[in-house]
Amino acid sequence: MDLSEKFYNFQFPRKIIFGVDSSRKVGSEAKILGGSRVLLVTDSNLMRIGVVKDVEDSLLGEGFDVEVFSDVEAEPSIELAEAVAEAARADRYDLVVGVGGGSVLDIAKIASISVTNPGPIRKYVGVNLLVRPGIPKILMPTTAGTGSEVTNVAVVTLLDEETKSAIISPYMLSDVAIVDPKLTYSMPPRITASTGLDALSHAVEALMAVNSNPISNGLALQSIEIIVRHLPKSYRVGDEESRFYMSLGSMVAGMALSSSGACLGHALAYSFSVTYKIPHGISCGLSLPYAFKFNAPAIRHRIPQIAWAMGIDPKGRSLEELEEAVFIRLLTLLDELNVPKRLIDLGVQRNDVERIARKLLTFTRLIQRNPRIISEDDARNLVMEMWSGPDNIP
Ligand SMILES: [Fe+2]
Repeated sequence: MDLSEKFYNFQFPRKIIFGVDSSRKVGSEAKILGGSRVLLVTDSNLMRIGVVKDVEDSLLGEGFDVEVFSDVEAEPSIELAEAVAEAARADRYDLVVGVGGGSVLDIAKIASISVTNPGPIRKYVGVNLLVRPGIPKILMPTTAGTGSEVTNVAVVTLLDEETKSAIISPYMLSDVAIVDPKLTYSMPPRITASTGLDALSHAVEALMAVNSNPISNGLALQSIEIIVRHLPKSYRVGDEESRFYMSLGSMVAGMALSSSGACLGHALAYSFSVTYKIPHGISCGLSLPYAFKFNAPAIRHRIPQIAWAMGIDPKGRSLEELEEAVFIRLLTLLDELNVPKRLIDLGVQRNDVERIARKLLTFTRLIQRNPRIISEDDARNLVMEMWSGPDNIP
């Protein structure tokens, strides 16, 4: 065995607080980090429904001055990243607090690093290009999916190139992640489904990726089990118990993602989601069954573990039967969440398949992490199968 190939890299936030009402601790956690001026990053909808009010009060109660930046939109563009940088640099802030879904938390990370890293944000898009740590940041998710509160990534949309890219750096990690399931109670079913599928994609892709390792595998399998069990009820009913477990599953999946990385599923999702304006989680959820099926020959040793985590008993079944059962379970999960399982159902044109397949291969960072090499023919066949659906579609 060549041990020099077994080289793992783990990066997590300095502190993670999880639990119902944990958001009440934001003031005291901010106090520990120090300073007096907070830039609170959120979105206008969360302001309107009052989710941000308690967080703001907790900070005000500890004597902080709070300025709010609430112009964040879903799937944030690089232009929005530049706008938040301008706002963060306009005053002397000591701390950034992000309250929102993945888009808000990513923009909060960018606000934090923009204070200490000069120039346009665009020049930091890539891996390890930031030169200094940002000002301290506390991240509080209001969805259960992106895991952004525990990852070192901020994804930005480059509209002129119809693509997505990311700022990746250990400086993007939060100082404190506060995950309060209560903040997700107001999430509508459609967002619950979409973000939950993003979390499941993080877990399954982290398990498939070539950088997977004993720590990320443990986290990924644990989160697959939690998410597959609780996502349908969280979508249908949205009760406190299923919300609790989805917040937990999403956070744990984010930790797996942070140390192992996504691969083919996210690359497939990015290859059509910007052009067709499909929410991140929906595009990932649709791509996941096909990415798993394509990768199955390269991850045969993982298939019984994934099956087991999804509640499929591997006993007495061949690897081929288990692979098929996992594939079908991923598709039926989409049905349970009323999410399309074919590109044609999203309005993607047949004559666009070729272009999407070519685009897929441009996401080299994700493709290089995939356990199975993808040729141009593979890419075309894969996107074609996603477009029309598999022959044995349930
Ligand atoms: Fe994602």
